[in-house]
Amino acid sequence: MHKITIAIDGFSSTGKSTVARQLAKHLGYIYVDSGAMYRAVTLYAMNQQFIDDNQFDVNALVTNLHHVTIHFEFNRETGNADVYLNGKNVEKQIRTLEVSNCVSRVAAVPEVRYQLVKQQQQMGKEKGVVMDGRDIGTVVFPHAELKIFMTASAETRAQRRYDELINRGDKVNFNEVLHNIQERDYIDSHRADSPLVKAEDAIEIDNSNLTLDQQFQKVLNLVTMTLENL
Ligand code: DC
Repeated sequence: MHKITIAIDGFSSTGKSTVARQLAKHLGYIYVDSGAMYRAVTLYAMNQQFIDDNQFDVNALVTNLHHVTIHFEFNRETGNADVYLNGKNVEKQIRTLEVSNCVSRVAAVPEVRYQLVKQQQQMGKEKGVVMDGRDIGTVVFPHAELKIFMTASAETRAQRRYDELINRGDKVNFNEVLHNIQERDYIDSHRADSPLVKAEDAIEIDNSNLTLDQQFQKVLNLVTMTLENL
């Protein structure tokens, strides 16, 4: 059976990673959460005090980028791949609202994107990969056989992210989460380098009113059709 490259892009908290992970497990493909890589670089920049809510020393980050190593390792307990920053598992730390508040500014730095895109292309070079992010179908794998663009209203997405953070025990309020999502939507789609746009040949799925199962079936049908048309 042929292996293909599947690119899943879209705004923050559209459930891209849930469907991408399900799909990779189902197909026996590798799953790569490219957002986790931008989050790990952001955590590094925060730890080094290169960035916080009020300042961002872009030069310091760019000069030190060669000190940043990111890799994924399978976690037997969760059955998912965890992200490691310089050898340390940072899967939990990268998901906080503090990191979310800084990550779009870090992801707008061309040198950061250049490094991470190179690494992502390397990870997917054998095909048989599902990668989710913002620029996977446009920049990382412009020749992906299947490109999906996920959307949902900002309120729906904020509610999902809010529930996720509360379930983890984080103390957040809904408006703060909604504000973060709207701000990231704006920065991600207006940055000069690789802004979030739907690739011309991507198939758009609005999942505001879809259950996880309906969404998965829809995507799986697209995979079947793509494989049949190879
Ligand atoms: O998917 P996520 O919310 O974990 O992504 C975190 C941030 O990283 C998001 O605000 C945009 C950025 N990002 C990006 O610019 N390009 C990607 N391929 C993936 C994420």
